[in-house]
Amino acid sequence: MERSLSMELVRVTEAAALASARWMGRAKKEEADDAATTAMRSVFDTVPMEGTVVIGEGEKDQAPMLYIGEDLGTGDGPGVDVAVDPVEGTNIVAKGTWNALAVLAIADRGNLLHAPDMYMDKIAVGPESVGKINLDAPVVDNLEAVAKARNKDVEDLVVVILDRPRHDQLIKDVRNAGARIKLIPEGDVAAAIHTAFDNTGVDMLLGQGGAPEGVISAVALKCLGGEIQGRLMPRNDEELNRCLNMGISDVNQVLHMEDLVSGDDAIFAATGVTDGELLRGVRYQGNKGRTQSLVMRARSGTVRFINGDHSLIKKPNLVIKNE
Ligand code: FBP
Repeated sequence: MERSLSMELVRVTEAAALASARWMGRAKKEEADDAATTAMRSVFDTVPMEGTVVIGEGEKDQAPMLYIGEDLGTGDGPGVDVAVDPVEGTNIVAKGTWNALAVLAIADRGNLLHAPDMYMDKIAVGPESVGKINLDAPVVDNLEAVAKARNKDVEDLVVVILDRPRHDQLIKDVRNAGARIKLIPEGDVAAAIHTAFDNTGVDMLLGQGGAPEGVISAVALKCLGGEIQGRLMPRNDEELNRCLNMGISDVNQVLHMEDLVSGDDAIFAATGVTDGELLRGVRYQGNKGRTQSLVMRARSGTVRFINGDHSLIKKPNLVIKNE
């Protein structure tokens, strides 16, 4: 993979964020997602790679763009698997709250798990806690291990959990162990990334979120030297069959980093749509749009924060009308 691909890919998430942030707080999550998908798709056409969507907006018959199996890029360049989430946290954009991102991840062809659209049970941590966690262990054991690795007391830890009824027992267990909790309405990719940055105040992500988001988080944590473990959670025979068709014969198997994203190279890019702990959301002023992005590469370990000032006159395709 060419190192310059990182900069090409951040243009893709910038365009998606600039388009979808126009819909912030307008209670129109589908419009926010469509705008991001259209913008992302059009910029992908200019990226020198031979990409195939393995995690996208759905199957070919469900999604006109960025569907699974769609070819992306100019066709010149490395063959890569592409995972996209044009708006990670569509309800967040609809309500104008925290941590909506435009995200994508790529890896050499064949190296991303083609995760089906179902739930995945997850545990994610930053670099200091790598090798100390175990999805199969009781919650209290993981909390104690992470506290020790981070030289903290369990009481000092902050665990992020999606605020869902399915997590009632998990929340009780974390509270009983004495750790603090941040319940989030959406957006567990941002939460997984936050575990690797001290300034976010987040030590750990626990609970069930989307499996595609789990793979995207794995690429981010691979770049950051963190760790995520996951287990697919099929809820019916159809979802079970999807796991089997993917070659996962034991659905109870814990998926480790190497199962989620293999090989030594991968690139992750994200641009803030709404404000978050790590990235500012899009600002518009007059004919300018201002973005903040994070782009990282696993092989080099380089982590870049990129501020962009975009002329909406010179790039009229970035101006989206709301009505
Ligand atoms: P969208 O990007 O599709 O809006 O999903 C956001 C998200 O909150 C993810 O971050 C998370 O993994 C998943 O949805 C959780 O699913 P559910 O809302 O069904 O609990």
